[in-house]
Amino acid sequence: MGKTLIILKPDAIQRRLLGKLISRFEEKGFQIIGLKMIQISDALARKHYAIHEGKDFFEPLIRYMTSSPVIVMILKGKNVVEIARKMMGFAFGSKAEAGTIRGDYAVSNRFNLIHGSDSPASAEKEISIFFKKEELFEYNPTDLQWIYDMSTGDIV
Ligand code: TYD
Ligand code: MG
Repeated sequence: MGKTLIILKPDAIQRRLLGKLISRFEEKGFQIIGLKMIQISDALARKHYAIHEGKDFFEPLIRYMTSSPVIVMILKGKNVVEIARKMMGFAFGSKAEAGTIRGDYAVSNRFNLIHGSDSPASAEKEISIFFKKEELFEYNPTDLQWIYDMSTGDIV
């Protein structure tokens, strides 16, 4: 089972889309093991998006991410990093495929509602930046045997 960090960005809160976006991941079968509302500071935004420092969209991106509170959440599931990225769609709302979160709810090439870690390694790093150990909850989801076939000893 893997973990990923999701951020429901300022536009997701302002546009009252939180319930819909969280539902997509719940309904897919992922387990929420951490969730909170925070205001991202300028320093935290710069750290989170350090890989984009120097690019022409960096400063507007930092302004966007710090403009209003966000929801940060940790999802758990098999291959969750890759599957959540697929569910989010391409970064530009204008190009994201219909059926994806960005494809269904965003048209902007910046205000694209959601962040998801792009690899298990960045997920681990991002989770440690945004969450304290005691903010992660390891509980047994009662329906797990109906989300995956675990009868063979593997998670299928
Ligand atoms: P990126 O890491 O390329 O996309 P993703 O969020 O899918 O991992 O870019 C990070 C964020 O930067 C993206 O969600 C929106 C913003 N952005 C721009 O504002 N302009 C751009 O040209 C790009 C590529 C990204
Ligand atoms: Mg990225």
